Amino acid sequence: MGQMIPDLPLPAPAGLRMNGLPKKPQPPPQDASAAAFTDAVIAATGPNANPRLAAIMPSLVRHLHAFAREVNLTVAEWSAAVDFLNECGKMSTDRRNETQLLCDILGLESLVDSITSTLLSTSTSETPSAILGPFYRHSAPLLPNGSSIIQNLSPSIPWHDQALADSAHVSGRVLSSSGKPIPGAVVDVWHAAPNGMYEQQDADQPEMNFRGRFETDQEGRYALYALRPVAYPIPEDGPAGRLLGLLDRHPYRPGHIHFIVSAPGWRALTTQLYDARDEYIGRDAVFAVKEELVVRFEPREGDEKARWELVYDFVLGRV
Ligand SMILES: [Fe+2]
Repeated sequence: MGQMIPDLPLPAPAGLRMNGLPKKPQPPPQDASAAAFTDAVIAATGPNANPRLAAIMPSLVRHLHAFAREVNLTVAEWSAAVDFLNECGKMSTDRRNETQLLCDILGLESLVDSITSTLLSTSTSETPSAILGPFYRHSAPLLPNGSSIIQNLSPSIPWHDQALADSAHVSGRVLSSSGKPIPGAVVDVWHAAPNGMYEQQDADQPEMNFRGRFETDQEGRYALYALRPVAYPIPEDGPAGRLLGLLDRHPYRPGHIHFIVSAPGWRALTTQLYDARDEYIGRDAVFAVKEELVVRFEPREGDEKARWELVYDFVLGRV
């Protein structure tokens, strides 16, 4: 007879330790090396790094690596994403910002705007901000209060009749959070034409059409003629539009008027007002609608220049 083989303990059932207690969850070996890999990338930051970048990049790298691992991102997919971002950059000019548009459809600009607003706000009565969007232009004409931002509207324009039907008088005050008027504030306003295009997108529109700046009077009042805005699709002829298609998403923004309201000593307010009756009010392609910014245009009587009336006060916060 050969040597007796001592009794060996039977292997514990799966999920139990030898003493019958549940096993402590152990990360698979590759997780430890994955964490070490990510830590090594973060640790490569040098002692003289830009302080803000040194503070935020570890989080960016962790989330970026975690995303790639979570979805098992392949080289082909990553390469397609790099090409996509490059295409956004190459398409961007001073008249079109495709990379910003990409951020918009991912909700990033709206999210960052809300974070910034929360950080800087000093009063709950301040008018909420909304995204700048990709179509702002500096140096819109400074116009007298009560004048129009509609240029050269003639019957030969295809959307002439709609412009007449949508003509609107927009007015209100610029106030402090305690309700005091702010004289000398500049109300910079812009919106799309009834064909859904901003003037820089449309060769048939005059330069700076539907754009203007107005200075508030001693009572903080501003007034102008504009149009009740229409819903429009964000540009779909670039990579951002292609991504919307791949995600089976619509490209429309509810009708809105953009504003930047600024005054010395006050924090500039970038915001938008949205037409409550717009069919896209609850499904903005760029996720920028806030309840406090949804307004109702009311019929305007006795004014041949406007069929609609909007009165809205902006409340600014101190710098
Ligand atoms: Fe817009």
